[in-house]
Amino acid sequence: SILILDYGSQVTQLIARRVREAGVYCEIHAGDVSEDFISQQITAGIKGIILSGSHASAYDEHALKAPPIVFEAGLPVLGICYGMQAMAQHFGGKVSFSDHREFGYAEVRAHGHTRLLDGIQDFATADGHGMLKVWMSHGDKVTELPAGFKLMASTPSCPIAGMADEARGFYAVQFHPEVTHTVQGPAMLSRFVHEICGCASDWNMPDYVETAIARIREQVGDEEVLLGLSGGVDSSVAAALIHRAIGDQLTCVFVDHGLLRLNEAEQVMQTFVQNLGVRVIHVDATEQFMGKLAGVSDPEAKRKIIGKEFVEVFQEEAGKLRNARWLAQGTIYPDVIESAASKTGKAVAIKSHHNVGGLPDTLNLKLLEPLRELFKDEVRKLGVALGLPPEMVYRHPFPGPGLGVRILGEVKKEYADLLRRADAIFIEELRNTIDPETGKSWYDLTSQAFAVFLPVKSVGVMGDGRTYDYVVALRAVQTSDFMTADWAELPYALLKRTSGRIINEVRGINRVTYDVSSKPPATIEWE
Ligand code: XMP
Repeated sequence: SILILDYGSQVTQLIARRVREAGVYCEIHAGDVSEDFISQQITAGIKGIILSGSHASAYDEHALKAPPIVFEAGLPVLGICYGMQAMAQHFGGKVSFSDHREFGYAEVRAHGHTRLLDGIQDFATADGHGMLKVWMSHGDKVTELPAGFKLMASTPSCPIAGMADEARGFYAVQFHPEVTHTVQGPAMLSRFVHEICGCASDWNMPDYVETAIARIREQVGDEEVLLGLSGGVDSSVAAALIHRAIGDQLTCVFVDHGLLRLNEAEQVMQTFVQNLGVRVIHVDATEQFMGKLAGVSDPEAKRKIIGKEFVEVFQEEAGKLRNARWLAQGTIYPDVIESAASKTGKAVAIKSHHNVGGLPDTLNLKLLEPLRELFKDEVRKLGVALGLPPEMVYRHPFPGPGLGVRILGEVKKEYADLLRRADAIFIEELRNTIDPETGKSWYDLTSQAFAVFLPVKSVGVMGDGRTYDYVVALRAVQTSDFMTADWAELPYALLKRTSGRIINEVRGINRVTYDVSSKPPATIEWE
């Protein structure tokens, strides 16, 4: 495996994803971990180290320094951006501070036929030099090579854009091979981990199933496990995996708060109970939630009520399962990295939402988190390997408070019923409309799409009569990280069919609008 040391770049996670896509397991740890920790990792068999970028300057007195053992262990090291500068500084090269930031697309010329870049190129110059299309984001840069290093890459504005000491297995690049804009990035990272570090491609989800099952069995022995199933990807995959490992020692609790999508509860029960044979306790708490939400229109107050109620219902059911010793959760690797980063204050904290409000710690259960080391795309592949339906595993994200934040203002069962039907029509049309250019459905071409209920009435005509009914807004966005998002340019024909069907099929709605606001300044959800 590969050890990635994080110096606080926003894209460190991408390095790990690319390495894993190359079939090699890797973990991210803080850039200032102890020498002891690194020695343990070396004993455990890591084959190479990658140093990430950073938002800090290598000159900053608070800047994290790579522990010297990184360069003394006899392992190959790849420095990226700040990681390159840290390597240069360690070996006595020169790093120059600059307040001018180079940011964006660049064309890099490869030099010296290094093992990292030789034969990898996007195009060649007239005199036969390999050129790479890359993404740059840096202020400081290396201005003098350390002793023993040779030039590996350059651009006119960054004459030392890459360097290598091949005898010792040290490579460094100023650009970012992990971001998609660097076209040959996956090839470079694959070169590093396979050819330079000698890692085998042994990280894949079908094989991982066996390892994960063995680990769960070893952890829980013959004890019983409780899991809160939400119908979302993470808890579903966790449930399928744990069930594969320990069968009926797993009991799932599925709380229906009455704010789920159309037929969602039935689909969850069908998949888990009928198809997989998982023991699921289905609690229909619609009345209870609607009761608590009556008269409440503030979005944050609604979220708090739904979160608190959810924990209460869950705890009550959990309390009935006297033999449970474990609480399973679908925590995934980005959650682990983010909470570690926010504890040490290293990476800039990123907003995160959690599906299941607070953890019911009064239950005194041990935590079982079998997805802790997986990225979302790996969780999805694992789900498919476990036999979950791809439509479930590749579903758009759905917020924990569900339709509660998609019905503006006060939540009523009548509104939820209308919204569910309108939303289902929209999703069905998105799934059924194929974009001829990409061959993909508009559901797959959007990151999140849904209908929002507006509790205002407007006038319409239907046949000879006048109507005075509610409005729904359709929302469809494209985003890679949900922090920023663009509204999707859906085909007019798709919008036309959707609005026609909603108005004709959902009595009570006579007007449909399309939301053309980007995030920021709008958010994805309306509340
Ligand atoms: P916003 O509306 O903040 O949404 O642009 C970004 C992403 O977060 C989801 N979201 C939530 N998820 N509980 C959740 O579990 C919440 O309270 C919540 N609010 C927003 C939203 O669906 C989108 O994917």
